[in-house]
Amino acid sequence: MLFYNSLNLSFLINCIKKYLKLLKIRLVNLQRKFNHYLLPPFKILQIKILKAGILALNTKKNLNILENYIYDIEKYITFSTTINTRPNSFENLTNRITAYYHVIEKGLAFKDTRLGYGKEIVDILFKLLERYLNNGYPINNEQFISAIKTLESYCKYHNEHNYDIRIVQNKLEKYKPYIQNFEQYGGGTKRVYKEQIIKDIQKDFEHLAYSRHSIRNFIEGEVDIELIKRAILIAQKSPSVCNRQSSRVYILKDEQAKKNALSCQNGNRGFGHLANKVLIVTSNLKAFYSIKERNQAFIDGGMFGMSLIYALHSLGLGTCTLNWSTTKEQDIKLRSLIAIKSEEVVIFMIAVGLLPESLDVPYSQRKNLEEIIQII
Ligand SMILES: Cc1cc2nc3c(=O)[nH]c(=O)nc-3n(C[C@H](O)[C@H](O)[C@H](O)COP(=O)(O)O)c2cc1C
Repeated sequence: MLFYNSLNLSFLINCIKKYLKLLKIRLVNLQRKFNHYLLPPFKILQIKILKAGILALNTKKNLNILENYIYDIEKYITFSTTINTRPNSFENLTNRITAYYHVIEKGLAFKDTRLGYGKEIVDILFKLLERYLNNGYPINNEQFISAIKTLESYCKYHNEHNYDIRIVQNKLEKYKPYIQNFEQYGGGTKRVYKEQIIKDIQKDFEHLAYSRHSIRNFIEGEVDIELIKRAILIAQKSPSVCNRQSSRVYILKDEQAKKNALSCQNGNRGFGHLANKVLIVTSNLKAFYSIKERNQAFIDGGMFGMSLIYALHSLGLGTCTLNWSTTKEQDIKLRSLIAIKSEEVVIFMIAVGLLPESLDVPYSQRKNLEEIIQII
């Protein structure tokens, strides 16, 4: 596996080297051309610029930038499942299982859940669960249990709506024994009430945090822009590197603008259209000045974004974070539809809307504390 990745990595490095070589040749050729055509005063200037370009490609600083990005690429392709899409390690597999069962649990939380949705996802989920068992991984794992419970809720929902779900139900039979005696772990959805949420947000931070859920069911009604501005003011209190405050927010209220932005985002199907406002959180790269800060925009932007989500929640609004995990093509498309400054990187979007009196939210089982801490 590591060998496979190393091969890809050396391929990548070679590509970059070739690219730099080509760039250098192009610059040299350009220089020759200018030598030939340009008049003396311009010639000197152009030659100077081109020479600086060639020099820049050779400087230690540039190599350092490249090496650091390559270091990041190596880590990412070694440990994520970008290249090896059939992971077998415990962590890769449980995270895949979670990503797939999350699609099912989130579908159950929509205002209008489409009967028969997610059939392909359910199929893949069963295959992943099979692989999990074949690898002999612990059967008391909360993500494994939660996935089965979510499939159980999926069948229950379809049965209640007289939709033929026998194929899924038959496959599920094999897994039902695994969820016995695990009352402490949830799956599927749970019902929450606006009245309780409003009470909880007035208490301490623990209550505020536990009462926040990603909301995918909003009622019609205007979210006051002044309320959003107030939340942004609160979020501005977030720490940022040297207090440089790179975070920016685009507030989309125009129907077409919201539609355009959401059409570029791949996680809002089934509920995005219910959001009264869509926020785009970005971070300005002009705030940063060294290769050491190459990820800082995402760190500062992420911290600011989380504060904003809590702030909106503390003001009684419903929010759902919307990923901006995209290819460059999608990023370019968004920028062609919404005037996002080119020096800013998009962190994520946030769907904002008014809470219904009662609603279903995914159970979203958290990992055991022991799984995520190490006391050193
Ligand atoms: C960076 C980020 C991107 C997310 N993107 C989406 C998305 O595109 N669509 C969606 O429905 N939920 C999205 N979520 C919400 C997660 O699914 C949710 O936070 C998680 O399941 C835990 O549930 P909770 O927020 O209700 O506690 C995103 C969350 C984060 C932090």
